[in-house]
Amino acid sequence: MPTLRRLTQDDLPRLRQFWIEHWGGEEMIARGNVYRPEQLEGFVIEDGDEWIGLLTFFIKDGECEVTSLDSLREGQGLGSMLIDKAIAESRARNCKRLFLITTNDNLNALGFYQKRGFEIVTIYRGAVNASRKIKPGIPLVGMNGIPLRDEIELEKVLK
Ligand SMILES: CC(C)(COP(=O)(O)OP(=O)(O)OC[C@H]1O[C@@H](n2cnc3c(N)ncnc32)[C@H](O)[C@@H]1OP(=O)(O)O)[C@@H](O)C(=O)NCCC(=O)NCCS
Repeated sequence: MPTLRRLTQDDLPRLRQFWIEHWGGEEMIARGNVYRPEQLEGFVIEDGDEWIGLLTFFIKDGECEVTSLDSLREGQGLGSMLIDKAIAESRARNCKRLFLITTNDNLNALGFYQKRGFEIVTIYRGAVNASRKIKPGIPLVGMNGIPLRDEIELEKVLK
């Protein structure tokens, strides 16, 4: 039975390893900002010892940014559970909005977030090309065979 819990300091080595495996490095780059695991908070869904879902976030200036979201068992509600948890956490901590950056190739994520009340607010054209200079492992062609080029910001305004 999968269980959801908050990440702790003890999870840092595993979080780094998870990001290396799933995102090609132990840093996330969004809008030129570099995010490292030790700066972040998060939630993990575990099935026994296995991490099957992970969301990290960063709260600053009354805004919450989702810095990563992964489901390793898609279509079973794990992504929804994690994003709902992030919404509840943001509300509890009086954030005025929850936002995130995804990329132009990630059609699945663009659909997933918009169906859950997020709206596209900005397209940072060519921003992935800049991120690639910091993190050369970012591929030229992304998901769905689409050239990986732009960063897209989506937000959910929290009342
Ligand atoms: C985007 C992502 C996090 C979604 O996670 P997920 O676990 O598949 O999300 P869910 O299962 O909650 O929802 C996906 C779909 O499955 C459906 N679903 C949920 N539970 C279900 C169930 N028990 N049976 C059948 N379908 C189900 C949902 O209705 C949803 O469909 P919808 O979007 O049309 O409403 C996941 O695809 C992922 O990890 N992608 C790769 C990494 C990534 O791109 N991350 C985001 C970067 S910003």
